[in-house]
Amino acid sequence: MSLNNQQQGYSSVEYPYSNAAYSSSQWLEKEQSRSRRSKWITIGSLVAVLGLIAIGVGVGVTVAKNHKSSSSSSSSSSNAVEQTDPNDPSTFKLDARLKKSFYGIAYTPEGSQYPACGNSLEQVITDIQLLSQLTDQIRLYGADCNQTALVLEAINQTKVNMTVWLGNYPIPTDPAPYERQRDAIIDALKTYGVDHVAGITVGNEYMLNYLNANGATDPNSDIGNQGAQLLIANITDTRTAVQALNLPKTIPIGTADAGSFFNTEVLEAVDYGMSNIHAWFANVSISQAAGWVNEFFQENNVQVAQTLSNKPQFFIAETGWPTASKDAGNESNGPSIASEPNLQTFLDTFVCQANKNGTGYFFFEYFDETWKDEEFGGVEGHWGLFYSNRTLKDITIPTC
Ligand SMILES: *[C@@H]1O[C@H](CO)[C@@H](O)[C@H](O)[C@H]1NC(C)=O
Ligand SMILES: *[C@@H]1O[C@H](CO)[C@@H](O)[C@H](O)[C@H]1NC(C)=O
Ligand SMILES: *[C@@H]1O[C@H](CO)[C@@H](O)[C@H](O)[C@H]1NC(C)=O
Ligand SMILES: *[C@@H]1O[C@H](CO)[C@@H](O)[C@H](O)[C@H]1NC(C)=O
Ligand SMILES: *[C@@H]1O[C@H](CO)[C@@H](O)[C@H](O)[C@H]1NC(C)=O
Ligand SMILES: *[C@@H]1O[C@H](CO)[C@@H](O)[C@H](O)[C@H]1NC(C)=O
Ligand SMILES: *[C@@H]1O[C@H](CO)[C@@H](O)[C@H](O)[C@H]1NC(C)=O
Ligand SMILES: *[C@@H]1O[C@H](CO)[C@@H](O)[C@H](O)[C@H]1NC(C)=O
Repeated sequence: MSLNNQQQGYSSVEYPYSNAAYSSSQWLEKEQSRSRRSKWITIGSLVAVLGLIAIGVGVGVTVAKNHKSSSSSSSSSSNAVEQTDPNDPSTFKLDARLKKSFYGIAYTPEGSQYPACGNSLEQVITDIQLLSQLTDQIRLYGADCNQTALVLEAINQTKVNMTVWLGNYPIPTDPAPYERQRDAIIDALKTYGVDHVAGITVGNEYMLNYLNANGATDPNSDIGNQGAQLLIANITDTRTAVQALNLPKTIPIGTADAGSFFNTEVLEAVDYGMSNIHAWFANVSISQAAGWVNEFFQENNVQVAQTLSNKPQFFIAETGWPTASKDAGNESNGPSIASEPNLQTFLDTFVCQANKNGTGYFFFEYFDETWKDEEFGGVEGHWGLFYSNRTLKDITIPTC
């Protein structure tokens, strides 16, 4: 089937305003953008569905109510992984159910939504102990709440072979979040060096959010190019700040966006692009999901990148399958149904096949994110391989 008359799936529309920047008009704008979450958009002959997944984090959306109860409800990191020596995180016991089969996994430490924060090194160490049994690469979405340093410190203490794609989650309407996260990344690079850093991703669905906020849909329209200039300024600024550190290796700088929202000028300014591709949001049934994700990625991202003079490398930033919904009404999206058996099917049909095909991807995601369930509802908080309490879901990790 040609993609021209196929649905495209991608995620999220959420606007991650920080509380400080929250005006009532922005709130309204956000509510309006949320209410548009499932509409069709026509881009030339391509038709896309706007799914809604509050990816990532970086800058928090959290309306700082009540976050104590929410963060304590999901934390049970202390018994998720056993250590031979309780004082040495590198002595953790391996879980026979976990297999190092994933190219990469998308990860946001619990309690990393600014300004509520609340994350802890102890929890991040547990996460790295578990993640390192599944993959040797993770990607972060933002750098708020000290998450960059926490992850690099946890890698140091667990002594695992793990590299991290760091993230900066800028907001189009406010320069402060970008600068705050840039400074946190630079500090972490000064402290921890580059041995465990694979790249820095500047922007998470920046173009999707910018277009959505400005009533446009085409990333290469005039409005798209205006947004692109703002993002490119941040990309260039990060490149300059990293170069000034005279690091022993070159750190690639990239951007992550929804699969059909890459702007050409942005792609010409980065070393790599990371693309969110979700079959669930495109009403693709589980039996076709893995092949559809691959086809979408090759046609819309890999082939397009090859036409540019800098030929940016492309990765799948997020792909996965939800296992539940906060409300029964959102458990299915057309023929796509959120369930653990369907996550199992996606694992069985995507992971080893994508490895074999040489596709770089970040499985979405490490664990269920409680804050998304509270903030957005639907399936958004239920994409984890683990539940939010770090217990593995009823799935079998494939052996490749
Ligand atoms: C950030 O985390 C690192 C690693 O645990 C720690 O050394 C540092 O003190 C933390 N910084 C802040 C501001 O909390
Ligand atoms: C460590 O991880 C890198 C990828 O980040 C991989 O290329 C390498 O083979 C791994 N090394 C070991 C000893 O597993
Ligand atoms: C980063 O981008 C924001 C908009 O997203 C802009 O306001 C700010 O000026 C940019 N900062 C730099 C240093 O490029
Ligand atoms: C990381 O661990 C090594 C030893 O394993 C140590 O020499 C180093 O100082 C640690 N800290 C940082 C910030 O890299
Ligand atoms: C892997 O490549 C084959 C052959 O092109 C394709 O049929 C399949 O859908 C791909 N699967 C994934 C998950 O990339
Ligand atoms: C899906 O979830 C949203 C909130 O996330 C809710 O507004 C909507 O009513 C739900 N749809 C159904 C069909 O229940
Ligand atoms: C997907 O299915 C839902 C109903 O389950 C429907 O509301 C929505 O319009 C469908 N979207 C597409 C793109 O077909
Ligand atoms: C973790 O959460 C899951 C899903 O809510 C639940 O079934 C399981 O019993 C919990 N495990 C522990 C150890 O609390």
